Amino acid sequence: MNMDQLKRQAAARALEEVRDGMQLGLGTGSTAKHFVELLGERVAAGLKVIGVPTSETTRLDAERCGVKLTTLDEIDHLDLTVDGADEIDPEFNLIKGGGGALLREKIVAAASDRMIVIADDSKWVPTLGKFPLPVEVIPFGLGATRRAIETAFAECGVSGQMAVRKAKDGHVFVTDGGHWIVDAQLGSIVDPPALAKALSAIPGVVEHGLFIGLASSAVLAGGEGIRVIE
Ligand code: 5RP
Repeated sequence: MNMDQLKRQAAARALEEVRDGMQLGLGTGSTAKHFVELLGERVAAGLKVIGVPTSETTRLDAERCGVKLTTLDEIDHLDLTVDGADEIDPEFNLIKGGGGALLREKIVAAASDRMIVIADDSKWVPTLGKFPLPVEVIPFGLGATRRAIETAFAECGVSGQMAVRKAKDGHVFVTDGGHWIVDAQLGSIVDPPALAKALSAIPGVVEHGLFIGLASSAVLAGGEGIRVIE
């Protein structure tokens, strides 16, 4: 089974948690896209749900699949968010934002009663940090923001190269919120909650890809089948 089939399997398992009438957060990325497509099939068969997309890409996918959408201004909570991740550790700390949607993903996850992470099992790691940590920043004053990020890294016992993310066309990648992303190659993050707190305190940092205390379970698909970790 190839990676894409594994991702679809994880999405299909998470779909089993969806009930009629649920208000859902819809994640972003290739794994979350499988979930949206499978959800669309259930909707076509009569399931009644409403979703909040975490990116413009997911909004378009959900519309194409016939999933009814709303916003967090129109409803006051979500029952369940299903989203992918770039890394998941045994405490359910996550690195997210490989697809650049971390800000909306975190807002949606934080508004949800539960968050299920769906992934192929290569994303399950003992320690976060091999995947570059995305930090969403305001372009204004970026030099000062980068220096403050370096200080936060040093205080939290990590260091590494930082680079402003580029889009495929070579231009700076701009998020749905109009911000930039700095990707930091840290290798190993010894204390993810401490680093999350330090980054959140920096003016100029809009959000970062460390998701702490948000995920409630993980569905991991691998060669030996599906693992649900709670
Ligand atoms: C987007 C994300 C994605 O969930 C993450 O990058 C995983 O993507 P994929 O399912 O394509 O591996 O955080 O911002």
